[in-house]
Amino acid sequence: MADKRKIIMDVDTGSDDAIALVMAMLDQRFDLLGICSVNGNVDVNLTTDNSLRVVECCGKQDTVKVYRGADLPIVSTLMPYTPQVRWGVPRREGQRPGGQEVHPEHLPLPAPVTKEQPQSAVAFYLETLLAAEDHSVTLVPVGPLTNVALAIRSDPRIVDKIEEIVIMGGGYAVNNSTPAAEFNIFVDPEALEIVLQAGCKVTLVPLDATHQAYITGEEAKLFRAIGTKPANLVADLIEQRIIGYSRFDADMQTQAPIHDALAVCSILYPEVLKDVEFINVHVDISGGIAYGETILDRRNRTFGDPKNTYFAHGADREMFRDWMLEVLRKDAAKA
Ligand code: BDR
Ligand code: CA
Repeated sequence: MADKRKIIMDVDTGSDDAIALVMAMLDQRFDLLGICSVNGNVDVNLTTDNSLRVVECCGKQDTVKVYRGADLPIVSTLMPYTPQVRWGVPRREGQRPGGQEVHPEHLPLPAPVTKEQPQSAVAFYLETLLAAEDHSVTLVPVGPLTNVALAIRSDPRIVDKIEEIVIMGGGYAVNNSTPAAEFNIFVDPEALEIVLQAGCKVTLVPLDATHQAYITGEEAKLFRAIGTKPANLVADLIEQRIIGYSRFDADMQTQAPIHDALAVCSILYPEVLKDVEFINVHVDISGGIAYGETILDRRNRTFGDPKNTYFAHGADREMFRDWMLEVLRKDAAKA
């Protein structure tokens, strides 16, 4: 059998992070080296706790470990209009009312029995990557990039060990946190800019792609019919996301994007991403209205900044859905 793909998941679990974790644990073609949690959809205590819940739901607590990551972004908490201020204040009426429903504080799973590891996420990255062969480990950050940027800044020798960084984040024609920025990048814009400048192969799976890779309520029933604990969790979370999205997104009334799982799928099936452009990308870190925007240099107006990112403008939703179903059905057949 071909070598398994070594990956590290970096998550702010989060409903779609949970589905991404299920897929990373159950697709036997991955060797999941660890899960790092980070502040994002909910605070890092909750993203750590939720990640442990998902590991136990999949019965992987003996082999898959969770490492607590950063509790705050690197710089943006020092800026005016920080994520904390924006996200911490009571929302004005009509402002993303479904947010809590999309990412409840606690996933609908029993409280975990297992604990996180004593080592921090950054310490785990450094130890694991420095001991690895060159270009052998793929990082999969599907939350704010804080942990990955801190690890790179702490010891840039890890860059040579990384095969690829596959990020769920950013947007060109589609954004969500602000008119210009997608959530994962908006929470910690400087972190993505550090990662983009590190010299690794980077793929961005932005909202442009994930919004094409939605799953419908009818399709959730196919997941439910599989009948295992992880498949039931996936069905519950898809249905929950559809309820949440239907409250703030006119295009998502009977369907919802499962952003983070698409990034995982694209590691094994790069062709699930459509209209992939190899291009120079910077992040707006100037603190104004475009703070956190992923800026694509489509006409070489940086005059020579290197192409540093594979940016996906679309996705094949049938391929994505069929991969999830196939992996969960195989897992059910083993049980
Ligand atoms: C991203 O933001 C988070 O809310 C989701 O988990 C996903 O990673 C989508 O913008
Ligand atoms: Ca996420």
